[in-house]
Amino acid sequence: MTEPAYLRITRASYDTVAADYAEILRTELGHRPLDRAMLAAFVELVQASDAGPVADIGCGPGRVTGHLQSLGLTARGIDLSPEMIAVARRTYPDLRFDVGSMNALDLEDGGLGGIVAWYSIIHTPPELLPEVFAEFHRVLAAGGHLLLAFKAGDEIRHLEHAYGHPLALDVHWLEPERVAELLRRAGFVVDATLVREAGRDEAGPQAYLMVRRPANP
Ligand SMILES: C[S@@+](CC[C@H](N)C(=O)[O-])C[C@H]1O[C@@H](n2cnc3c(N)ncnc32)[C@H](O)[C@@H]1O
Repeated sequence: MTEPAYLRITRASYDTVAADYAEILRTELGHRPLDRAMLAAFVELVQASDAGPVADIGCGPGRVTGHLQSLGLTARGIDLSPEMIAVARRTYPDLRFDVGSMNALDLEDGGLGGIVAWYSIIHTPPELLPEVFAEFHRVLAAGGHLLLAFKAGDEIRHLEHAYGHPLALDVHWLEPERVAELLRRAGFVVDATLVREAGRDEAGPQAYLMVRRPANP
């Protein structure tokens, strides 16, 4: 089957910027207390549900994977970009990182206790999000948790330059309630929504959704 153009463009873009992205974002979580709070809450919820290991899907250079591991989870990373995966493996040699796409994950049904998708759905055209959320639902165990981070808005911004490189990449800014509704339709229960104002080096508000695949009755 032919790969959709947006996946090819996203992979090529992140392959180009991987090393510089990793360096520029290396300490970013350190000045985002609300982001760290959501990640810490996710860790607690996953540990309490005891549903299995965690995947950071669209992990990029692995900074969030490493953060989750440092908070006590067993975490692995998956990303579309081989260059991002190479950087992640070099930076966190003790963690597992694999090339893969959130559209068709090479993971068994119900095998994960948690998924983090940290700014990784932002290049998926919104009409294709139901397909991605169905895939997240498939691989998450009953009672497992999913944490999403994305840019809050309702527009497509075209990036022509980022992380020191010329690019041609669309970024979808998404309305949190629209994403929440798509997640409900995919079978998730929404436990929390955080929308925070733009912080340092951000062009607008940011959204975080904590959702769960309901436990079996
Ligand atoms: C903005 S970066 C975020 C990376 C990482 N989560 C972080 O916060 O540093 C977006 C990442 O999502 C990955 N990505 C985008 N679409 C993807 C897909 N369909 N499947 C897997 N990864 C994807 C990109 O390759 C890129 O590494």
